[in-house]
Amino acid sequence: MSVDQRDRRENIPVIVIDGPAGVGKGTIAKRLATAFEFHYLDSGAAYRALAAMAVEAGIEAADVLALIRLSQQLSLQFPPEHDYQAFANGQNIDQALRTEECSSLASQIASVPEVRAELLKMQRGFRQPPGLVAEGRDLGTVVFPDAQAKIFLDASSEERARRRYKQLIEKGISANFDHLFDSIRERDQRDRTRSTAPLVAASDARVIDSTDMTIEAVLAQAEVYIRECLEI
Ligand code: C5P
Repeated sequence: MSVDQRDRRENIPVIVIDGPAGVGKGTIAKRLATAFEFHYLDSGAAYRALAAMAVEAGIEAADVLALIRLSQQLSLQFPPEHDYQAFANGQNIDQALRTEECSSLASQIASVPEVRAELLKMQRGFRQPPGLVAEGRDLGTVVFPDAQAKIFLDASSEERARRRYKQLIEKGISANFDHLFDSIRERDQRDRTRSTAPLVAASDARVIDSTDMTIEAVLAQAEVYIRECLEI
């Protein structure tokens, strides 16, 4: 990419929503992408898709070279006409990515620095006009440190396990609350303590603790902040 192309890309507005597992980033980020008519990136889906491909190919989290090769074959889209669900090579893979097996392996794979470096390029490619709403763990700190608006969404681990449980049941996927709670705590621990790109709020992020807030209240607060940042 030429310096000129990079400069132009850096002018494209990016809104990032970071936060721990099950906090509702997806719901908020999709609603914001619709409101601002921006593109959408679920960076967790990239790690999950890679995990799903690894399971299918019988590749373990420790086989870094094989994971890198796999990640180079990954082409993700989030079409707005399909409610920003994850598609790979024209196929809807959204449901397949939500299993607990995929969640757990994605979090293990995400601890591998070489895998993160590979997926970084892919994520930055989503910065296209007229703008991008991107959600994940390290979007404000590593992927788009120059993002125009950064939100760090938080909530207690109990509340996040409750939300994830409800979400899975509504989608017709069986779930066990205690397992979900343990899995959320385990993933939090791994995401917060890994040496590469740990889960942490960017120093210039607006932190919103949504534990006792409705989605509408979070959205209203986020929109006011984003409009201030983007001066629109
Ligand atoms: O957000 P989601 O739960 O779908 O992400 C799945 C896993 O991918 C997380 O547990 C986390 O370990 C990893 N991830 C990450 N960095 C991101 C997004 C997700 O490490 N930006």
